[in-house]
Amino acid sequence: MYMAENTPTIYQGLDGVYITESKICKVDGTLGRLYYRGYSIDVLAQNSSFEEVSYLLLYGKLPNKMELESFENELNSERDIPDGVKNIIREMAKKADPMETLRTAVSALVISDAEVKDNSPAANLRKMVKLISKISTIVAQIGRLRAGKDFIPPAKNIGHVENFLYMLNGKAADAKLVKFINTMFILQAEHSSNASTFATLVTGSTLADIYSAVTSGISALKGPLHGGADEEALRMMLAIGNPDNTETYINEALAGKQKIMGFGHRVYKAYDPRAKVLKTWLVDIDKTSNGKVKDLIQIALRAEKLMVERLGQSHGIWPNVDFFTGPLYTWAGIPIELFTPLFAAARISGWCAHMLEYWEHNKLFRPLEYYTGPINLDYVPLDKR
Ligand code: SDX
Repeated sequence: MYMAENTPTIYQGLDGVYITESKICKVDGTLGRLYYRGYSIDVLAQNSSFEEVSYLLLYGKLPNKMELESFENELNSERDIPDGVKNIIREMAKKADPMETLRTAVSALVISDAEVKDNSPAANLRKMVKLISKISTIVAQIGRLRAGKDFIPPAKNIGHVENFLYMLNGKAADAKLVKFINTMFILQAEHSSNASTFATLVTGSTLADIYSAVTSGISALKGPLHGGADEEALRMMLAIGNPDNTETYINEALAGKQKIMGFGHRVYKAYDPRAKVLKTWLVDIDKTSNGKVKDLIQIALRAEKLMVERLGQSHGIWPNVDFFTGPLYTWAGIPIELFTPLFAAARISGWCAHMLEYWEHNKLFRPLEYYTGPINLDYVPLDKR
């Protein structure tokens, strides 16, 4: 076995390693605080819109009225998707996982973009606006086709989230639902160098185009340790079924060393501030809910209390952004298989902002591996092995 003189320190999963400088997002894992371009997430969730937050992430400042209107018009004008991409969605919607259909459809968007290979900042910004706008259209259309309904063309004169809900449901959404989904988009838009943003940066650092980089991001987000945890957390709550079963289920799961999806975080060793915002929505909606939604909310609240008591202070394992999503999206009428695609429809703004910033001082990602295998082995011919 080959061993270097001095065995290097291995940072498995790049745990604790800083990969670059950034001015986009501050995640304070100790105090459980989150800032986009210096603005606290709870302030943005309360007052902003997904369009305004996307502008903030991309351009580094809140837009004035004229800038926001112009950005919204750019997004509105890019909501349509090419027929070729619609055909891919039709072909895959019921045969593949929605994240796989999304990943493929996003890759195929290049058929209608003449600037794919133009890596100038101006062209990249134009492509990013297209991606921010079109991914929501693709997710809505995937949801339509999986529900056995056909495409609804995007509306042009309503907001991004209103249009998403219109394309998904075929009708105008009420103000509370629009406010909630806007909040979800804001909460999930950005989170510094998480796995999917890192995957985006690694691909973009080779100077591959933004469509390729974002396809890497979507692929990484799918996993249950990352964006896919939102669906897994709801599956757990559905398996618990009755709120009275919650304690037994959680205790047995922990005794079996099972990870409870929607809890724990590489950076937060305190309550995820995004989960705090979602918990206020949960408690509010609980007041007027009944049946399955009521049960799911009660299960979520009991599981949260149990997990915080058992693993909060002692182990630094707290609810994260994915835990309360399930009961809330169920109330909102979002099917479970669209949870992670919706996460991607929000996180596209963070992926794009980080890629734009990283390309300003690009450096190819090429970490080292510490080789511990053999070297200089004798080659034995096939008939002698
Ligand atoms: C997101 O990075 C980001 O910013 C991501 C994200 C974003 O916005 O982009 O915030 C979104 O992905 C949130 C995380 C969603 N994933 C989950 O909810 C999946 C469940 N959580 C875990 O798998 C885990 O907490 C991770 C993957 C999120 C983080 O794990 P780490 O930092 O790699 O730590 P680890 O898995 O090594 O766990 C350390 C210890 C272990 O115990 P020991 O083996 O040391 O005894 O904590 C335990 C783990 O078993 N642990 C859990 C647990 N999470 C960690 N035990 C029970 N339930 C859990 N959820």
